[in-house]
Amino acid sequence: MKVFGICASPRNGTTQYVLSEALNKLSGHDIETVMFSCQGKDIKHCMHCDYCLENKKCIIQDDMDEVYKNLNEADGIILATPVQSGSVSSYLSAIMDRTRALEAVDYNLLRGKIGMSIAVGGDRTGGQDFAHLSNIAYFIIHGIIPVSGGPFGSNLGASFWSQDSIDEIKNDGYGMESLDRTLNEFENFLNKYI
Ligand SMILES: Cc1cc2nc3c(=O)[nH]c(=O)nc-3n(C[C@H](O)[C@H](O)[C@H](O)COP(=O)(O)O)c2cc1C
Repeated sequence: MKVFGICASPRNGTTQYVLSEALNKLSGHDIETVMFSCQGKDIKHCMHCDYCLENKKCIIQDDMDEVYKNLNEADGIILATPVQSGSVSSYLSAIMDRTRALEAVDYNLLRGKIGMSIAVGGDRTGGQDFAHLSNIAYFIIHGIIPVSGGPFGSNLGASFWSQDSIDEIKNDGYGMESLDRTLNEFENFLNKYI
């Protein structure tokens, strides 16, 4: 079983901290994990040139190659994003668009994988749910099975209030609980459907 986590922050900050925690917990259960951090990465925007539809690969040569490879190999996908302007980061938005090239190769490539969302906002209610819904819409569009930790705290995924500080996010007990609950369900789905 392999889980691929994308940290969609442009820096090594609070989102990377919680994604690392999540992946460490999964590793402890004999699940292979790989993290891609967007920090310092070159991820260009989709130009809608349609080159991928004709040629079965993206015309842009940049760090998406690492993302393509790992998405292809993963059984489970974690999209971890800082909340930016009330939704996902621009890095994550670009990554989502660029996976069009994967489906140009094989329409079913992402179908049946399991997906979960982590959203980290500087504000307590800064748009974490909108970020989750963006991730969940992406999952549904691409046939990825979305999981949450269920009602009473993690309705759409793991939600954090970082107050823009790693020390503060470590103390976000409610957020950590939402992470545990979502991870638990994520593992249940991996075991049941993969
Ligand atoms: C451009 C930008 C936009 C942001 N917009 C929001 C927002 O809409 N809501 C929110 O709660 N926090 C917002 N933040 C704060 C970040 O979500 C918060 O600091 C988060 O912890 C950053 O994650 P990181 O430490 O992994 O980079 C924004 C930060 C930036 C840089």
